[in-house]
Amino acid sequence: MARHLITSAIPYINGIKHLGNLVGSQLPADLYARYLRGRGHEVLFLCATDEHGTPAELAAAKAGKPVREYCAEMHAVQADIARGFRLSFDHFGRSSSPQNHRLTQHFAGRLADADLIREVTERQMYSPADGRFLPDRYIEGTCPNCGFDSARGDQCDNCTKQLDPVDLINPHSTISGSTDLEMRETKHLYLRQSAMKDQLEAWIDSKTDWPVLTTSIARKWLNDGDGLQDRGITRDLDWGIPVRKGDADWPGMEGKVFYVWFDAPIEYIACAQEWVEAGKGDDWERWWRTDKGADDVSYTQFMGKDNVPFHTLGFPATIIGSGEPWKLVDFIKSFNYLNYDGGQFSTSRGRGVFMDQALDILPADYWRWWLLSHAPESSDAEFTWENFQASVNKDLADVLGNFVSRVTKFARSRFGEAVPDGGAYGPQEETLIADLTKRIATYQAHMDAMEVRKSAQELRAIWVAGNEYLQTAAPWAAFKSDPDRAAAIVRLSLNLIRVYAILSAPFIPDTADTMLNAFGSAPDRRWPRGTPDDFTVLQPGDAFSVPENLFAKIEDSQRADWQERFAGTRI
Ligand code: MF3
Ligand code: ZN
Repeated sequence: MARHLITSAIPYINGIKHLGNLVGSQLPADLYARYLRGRGHEVLFLCATDEHGTPAELAAAKAGKPVREYCAEMHAVQADIARGFRLSFDHFGRSSSPQNHRLTQHFAGRLADADLIREVTERQMYSPADGRFLPDRYIEGTCPNCGFDSARGDQCDNCTKQLDPVDLINPHSTISGSTDLEMRETKHLYLRQSAMKDQLEAWIDSKTDWPVLTTSIARKWLNDGDGLQDRGITRDLDWGIPVRKGDADWPGMEGKVFYVWFDAPIEYIACAQEWVEAGKGDDWERWWRTDKGADDVSYTQFMGKDNVPFHTLGFPATIIGSGEPWKLVDFIKSFNYLNYDGGQFSTSRGRGVFMDQALDILPADYWRWWLLSHAPESSDAEFTWENFQASVNKDLADVLGNFVSRVTKFARSRFGEAVPDGGAYGPQEETLIADLTKRIATYQAHMDAMEVRKSAQELRAIWVAGNEYLQTAAPWAAFKSDPDRAAAIVRLSLNLIRVYAILSAPFIPDTADTMLNAFGSAPDRRWPRGTPDDFTVLQPGDAFSVPENLFAKIEDSQRADWQERFAGTRI
């Protein structure tokens, strides 16, 4: 048994996430967490809401609410939807927690003591009409790179180029619309990432097993122009973590807060403290401090590709620079983008299917299966309603659902609601068991490697093998001439349902529960050991019942309906 710390990139608080966000971090992280728990490992799976920065302030203003209140409400909404998708976080924290305030200020103090922070007096956009500086998203204008006319101060949404507010052409305030902007002097803190370049590069170089998507992005930033750039870690905003040096004031930095990308990853640690505070755990240090046992923890982070620079360079710079024995990430699993029906999913434009809408039309498992089996791993992927309908109908309804229904209904009609006795397993059964044992090992290898699509493919192949066996063995035909033979086939098939439920649970947890519950309230849920005994756990006489139909097929009319309903943008 090993210990696994798993974190998913923490979603911004500003609204409900779309399916592209979900499949890029939270969902695959949940798959991995469920799998490892299933195999008997000790897992701490953490996520939180990312509550600071201009996105939070602007969304609150739009909702007409004080930002604190807005964040509390949206946290509850996101937590509820996460439960709806069966995301099995051990804790779903908040980056605005007191724990994160303390820890972020602590790290800043350590970095300052190590001479890794410099104070810079710089000129920033100031709006006299608004009486404030306009960082990041508080300013919009035309992108100097691609000409897009609503590029934000920190980034162009059209061409993804990172920007500085002063680069924008025809800039205006997104609060008042004012174009009367001037440059004013203000003081900010910069993290001296450049001073840590060699250390960070050596660390990345040591990660030879990391996906190319992850390391290539890190290398690009390490060698961007003159090399790794120092990053501003403070902002002139009201909402955020006040700039302090540990417990002490930071002269000259009064009224400023840390930049959201400085405090957000620190929440991964603070979240473990919140987990303890909430009474769900009793020791966070054994997960996070290498001097307190965390060196035998294997730590995996999940995220979309746009988050990779902050996790391969920014956050490690904070951790390494502190000079304290914090746990560094062991493996970063990153994802490309999921597109929506010929374009991009977009939160700001409300384009695509959002998590709450998805659950309104179908149960979580339908979505989990499609999203995971089409995860954007080696390239971007695309959601289309046709593809979604086809996968659900084929994989879930025709293959898995049909197998379970045929087996249990036939068994009940011929032998009653108990596993039948009868003949021993024959050559056909032995062949199937040998084949499945191999396939299960392959499935596990893919899951261990976090190869999400390959895992889904192998799982589907495992389901198909059962169907083909049932078709060839044909217990309905055997029953007439040799009821004992039919009983043996049914006995193995019922055992397959149990094994399938356990293997499938990381992907489709609710369906797996329904399948297992067909065998009473306490069936053996232990992960298959890889021996033929896995297929004889259910013994003659063990009771079962016929579960409700596991999946309903998606009709063409429903598909057309949804296609139309989600063609526009969400208001
Ligand atoms: N909120 C960011 C996003 O959705 C992710 C933050 S991840 C963390 O892109 F490292 F900062 F925690
Ligand atoms: Zn642009």
